[in-house]
Amino acid sequence: MTDATARRPYVVGNWKMHGLLSSLPAILDIDRAAACYRGVDVALALPFTLINPAAVTAAHATIGAQNCHAAQEGAFTGDISGRMLVDCGARFVLLGHSERRLGCAEDSATVRDKIRATLGHGLAAILCVGESVEDRAAGRAEDTVRGQLLQSLPDEMTDTNPVTVAYEPIWAIGSGRIPDAAEIAAMHRALRQTLRDRFGPAGQAIRLLYGGSVNDENAGSVLAIEHVDGVLVGNASLDPRRFRAIVAAAHHCGLRMT
Ligand code: PGA
Repeated sequence: MTDATARRPYVVGNWKMHGLLSSLPAILDIDRAAACYRGVDVALALPFTLINPAAVTAAHATIGAQNCHAAQEGAFTGDISGRMLVDCGARFVLLGHSERRLGCAEDSATVRDKIRATLGHGLAAILCVGESVEDRAAGRAEDTVRGQLLQSLPDEMTDTNPVTVAYEPIWAIGSGRIPDAAEIAAMHRALRQTLRDRFGPAGQAIRLLYGGSVNDENAGSVLAIEHVDGVLVGNASLDPRRFRAIVAAAHHCGLRMT
């Protein structure tokens, strides 16, 4: 089996701090897109307040969270545990997003503890890594991202651990700027090699997503880049019509790969 056929295309929407209960019809539209393109795994990382209502109504899209605490319960005012997420219907958690690494001072050791807890609760994890514009200008983008990857993943990974890695250059998030295809391919190649070296077959099974200013116009070309197994989409995932077009692009790329 080749790399391409082993890993199904994966399109994940990150709604960040957007969405009210009145957004449920939009979530159902996205769920219909997931039903239409069965060869693509479609997921939505939602605010905590939308997880349960979305999980009980969505039949095809996988519903998840954007963060969790590493502890199961305790005196952690304002936090949510993996156990609570499972209880309300979440199936995965996005961890290590740069908005949390920077805005909430989360380092890779914290992210690793959260991933370990997440997997322990039977949730899948999507680990985000990405360099700053200064790292890229200084020629240390690859070292920075590989360092984040190695420090954020627990040692005890197996090929059945449901972990995905999303490469999201910080300077590309929400900016309308994305790296050129060769830069994305080079970073994804380096990440794949790092995962293989560290985890063997488990590293081979992990899907690698690209994220940062992906939209309905550029998704097809991003998804066609070598070593890209899917996309993590922020802003464009809020509009079901645009998100559906991204899922359709992943479907067409998937067909070309098989
Ligand atoms: P964006 O966000 O698509 O709006 O750039 C991506 C992300 O932060 O995951």
